[in-house]
Amino acid sequence: MSEAIPAQKAPYPVDVEAGQKYAWCACGRSSTQPYCDGAHKAVGMRPTVFTADESKKVFLCGCKATGNVPFCDGKHKSL
Ligand code: FES
Repeated sequence: MSEAIPAQKAPYPVDVEAGQKYAWCACGRSSTQPYCDGAHKAVGMRPTVFTADESKKVFLCGCKATGNVPFCDGKHKSL
């Protein structure tokens, strides 16, 4: 299994809708960041699927090093 690589060293601000499922790219290789495009299959990783609890703007991790998957926790500042 490969390591995650940063897609960018900053979060992705995105609007999510309550009740909608999203697949956050965990490997950093998707070309449709911050969401999964299936690129993980080549490196033996899996996306993190989550359901939005309310409709709002969230900050999804772009560096793939967060300790609060799939959300930014500020870790990118130390990379
Ligand atoms: S973008 Fe990964 S912790 Fe902020």
